[in-house]
Amino acid sequence: MILTVTLNPCVDKTYLIEDFAIHKLNRPSQALTVAGGKGLNVARVYTRLGGKALATGLLGGYNGHIVQTALAGEGIAHDFVEISKETRICIKVVDPLHKTETEINEIGPPVSESEMLRFMERFEWLLASHSFAVVAFCGSLPPGIEADLVKTILRNAQQAGAKTVLDSSGAALQEGVLAGPWLVKPNRVELEELWGHPISSVETARRAATELRKRYEVDVFLCTLGAEGALWMTEKEAYHVKAPQVNVMSAVASGDSFLAGLLLALEKGDSVENALRLAAGAGAANAEGLGAGFCNVATVQRCAEQAQVSRLA
Ligand SMILES: Nc1ncnc2c1ncn2[C@@H]1O[C@H](COP(=O)(O)OP(=O)(O)OP(=O)(O)O)[C@@H](O)[C@H]1O
Ligand SMILES: [Mg+2]
Repeated sequence: MILTVTLNPCVDKTYLIEDFAIHKLNRPSQALTVAGGKGLNVARVYTRLGGKALATGLLGGYNGHIVQTALAGEGIAHDFVEISKETRICIKVVDPLHKTETEINEIGPPVSESEMLRFMERFEWLLASHSFAVVAFCGSLPPGIEADLVKTILRNAQQAGAKTVLDSSGAALQEGVLAGPWLVKPNRVELEELWGHPISSVETARRAATELRKRYEVDVFLCTLGAEGALWMTEKEAYHVKAPQVNVMSAVASGDSFLAGLLLALEKGDSVENALRLAAGAGAANAEGLGAGFCNVATVQRCAEQAQVSRLA
């Protein structure tokens, strides 16, 4: 079983709008409201693929109830701490005509010190009462929360015997990586942030990952590079998985789906090659549809069969 931590989840609204434009009235042909947040997406895909995941974090207000009700409806196990302020709303506009994705993400509610303390107590309790194979810290921090907290969360999980995963950005990524997590999953932009230089090719990404993996004493540097696939880098091995070619509707949450597929395959004892295939299958299957992580097993497997893994070292 895995635990995902999402401190700044959201009500995720996706609008499908052909020919979306500013300064005009836009009417969606489809509207989708779901529970959102990176850790929730990971838990969703993990659960849909037949694994056991528990999602924790902070939820508040009406939007918090919407998220909780949606999670219960989907059968995603969750245990969130309630906060007084309203959980945020994140809006995505997908325009299939111009093939654009526009996102409007609220920054999220402020969280008080006592609420954060309550979360840490709940987190400690969850770690003590379960035996998680993996604890994944996913997504951003609520405004005003020191990035140092990510380190504490990861270290506490490590002390409880879990493997730790960090999928974040900005200060939370910069600080979290100092805890030496088992696996870090930056996308191209996040890798550039950590490395401080542009990533123009898979080869440059490989160089950056090699350097950063050593610098931060991370076991696995897993860089996802959108349609260019992903790199798995450890001290001894380097693999590249090519992304299956699909008709892309929205690649938002493809990274979360990739991570879920990878963790599930590894938990089942699959080889790294097979885990990367399932991961790329989940990432591509997610990109084919609307919404974050609503792929089904058959599509994931179909896409996984097309994923090609090559050993680089
Ligand atoms: N256009 C695409 N076609 C096929 N597969 C894709 C495409 N985009 C992404 N993927 C798959 O999903 C993986 C993750 O994508 P990406 O690097 O965009 O993640 P991300 O930016 O972390 O996404 P998010 O944070 O929204 O979940 C890629 O490594 C690839 O395997
Ligand atoms: Mg990502």
